[in-house]
Amino acid sequence: GKLKMYVDELPEIPKIHGYKFHRGIPVAKKLTIGMYHKKWKFHRDLPASSVFVFGKSKHSATFPGPTIEALQGVATHVEWKNYLPKKHILPWDPTVPTAIPKHGGVPTVVHVHAAVAEPESDGNALAWFTKGFKDTGPNWSKSTYRYHNMQRPGNLWYHDHALGLTRQNLLAGLVGPYVIRNHTLEKPMNLPAGSEFDRHLIIADRSFYADGSIYMNSTGIDPTVHLQWQPEYFGDAITVNGKAWPFMNVQRRKYRFRFISTSNARYFNVKLSNGMPFIVVGSDASYLPKPVSTNAFMLSPAETFDVVVDFSIVGENTTEIELTNDAPFPYPNGTPTSIPNSRIMKFVLHNNKPTSCQVDHSTIPKKLLASSYPSVVDAAKQATLRRYIVLHEYISNTTGEVTHLYINGKSFSDPVTEKPKLGSTEIWDVINLTTDDHPLHLHLVAFQALKIRKLTNVNNFTNCMTQRNDAVRCNVDGHLSSTTKSVVEYEKAWKNIVKIEPGAMTTVVVKFNLVENGGPFPFDATAEPGYVYHCHILDHEDNAMIRPFKLVN
Ligand code: C2O
Ligand code: CU
Repeated sequence: GKLKMYVDELPEIPKIHGYKFHRGIPVAKKLTIGMYHKKWKFHRDLPASSVFVFGKSKHSATFPGPTIEALQGVATHVEWKNYLPKKHILPWDPTVPTAIPKHGGVPTVVHVHAAVAEPESDGNALAWFTKGFKDTGPNWSKSTYRYHNMQRPGNLWYHDHALGLTRQNLLAGLVGPYVIRNHTLEKPMNLPAGSEFDRHLIIADRSFYADGSIYMNSTGIDPTVHLQWQPEYFGDAITVNGKAWPFMNVQRRKYRFRFISTSNARYFNVKLSNGMPFIVVGSDASYLPKPVSTNAFMLSPAETFDVVVDFSIVGENTTEIELTNDAPFPYPNGTPTSIPNSRIMKFVLHNNKPTSCQVDHSTIPKKLLASSYPSVVDAAKQATLRRYIVLHEYISNTTGEVTHLYINGKSFSDPVTEKPKLGSTEIWDVINLTTDDHPLHLHLVAFQALKIRKLTNVNNFTNCMTQRNDAVRCNVDGHLSSTTKSVVEYEKAWKNIVKIEPGAMTTVVVKFNLVENGGPFPFDATAEPGYVYHCHILDHEDNAMIRPFKLVN
């Protein structure tokens, strides 16, 4: 049956502090966070669903997991523990490169997305482990991960990253927010603050069976090749903070919302039903140089937008505002949204007099962080190397369906080809030969789009790539149109996800050093097992739009 919208209240995500106080000074702390199998109510009228979720204990584990609150400059150590059962709650597929433990169990490994973390703590896909570390992957080296939190304040999140199981493990619920704060730097901006007015909105699309269990297809798009793998998972129910189409009671004042999409493949073109603007202050783990007002923002899987919404400008007669989405799926050339998946949640406006601590003294500053990041144009001038990165999908001759997606025609296990020099800046020209947009993610470093150029005669290029897997020999220059598109204003930040348009070459600038000061990493970033970069459509990442990269001295 159809689930009624806006019957569950938006849950508040519990918080865990990744620091403690010693004589009034914040110091490093060690946390233990487990992954548990339990039941979670996604909707009033839906039976509780089996989920895999993070928490300090099974009892307190939630979908999404608790927000880890960190402070810039104070390290957080986390012992990630796997308490998952012998069998997965979702179907999986050994025909894609997958972690398969000898003794059963669910392989997991945790990556803090957007973290500047040492390679050994970065959650490499081959550093997986099962319950009690009974089985471990070839790159597993330790059970307690170290996060230095040296980077600037911003929005991160944590999620599973096990080889070939990332799409199932996130779908099952292994996601949670992580924030790095710096009160000295952030307070002067005077943005809406405090847990009532500064809220995470973690968006995830899911489909459910009538008995409440999370739906995932059990047959592949081309069963002669893949038993279960499909190129994109789309759910019809849109959940926010673990509830399908929740409502949130708000006052007529400013709120800060940290949107993170943990969806497998769905893009959201996020809008407010009364047409009022969002004021974007940050994206991924960075603040923008200045606030940007926009009526819509395109949120891809794994992307973050940090926005202010001012409900005080809404007319007295408006008491409800819906948060909507009109992004076709797959984006941008897929099916248009319809009633269930075009709605995200609802804000219910109240006229109650605010209590003294609820009075809105926040402001929208002209500029954000006082000391700004290096500009992308200046960074580009320092680039010492340029690379072509080609995103390409392979179609079966017999069925005409996609069998796998590769970067530069290489699988994950092919030898490392990207070996940037520690501290250098590079230009990556990312060429998308598919018909879908791909959210590109690099571990460790932030990057920024500089310009976008459409490709001409894409079919010809694609045929060449299928045979030769070499952008230069396929004559990239001969396929570039002369017109250059600029990057949208609200994405001009040092990002951890850059959306790569189909049929175009997006030029991105990558800084292989700490964004904060351009200085050295507080750890050996050249150590094993190195890092990865990949498409963050989880179904693409698993099969196998993912490649290693290694920093060298
Ligand atoms: Cu958000 Cu490699 O991941
Ligand atoms: Cu992709």
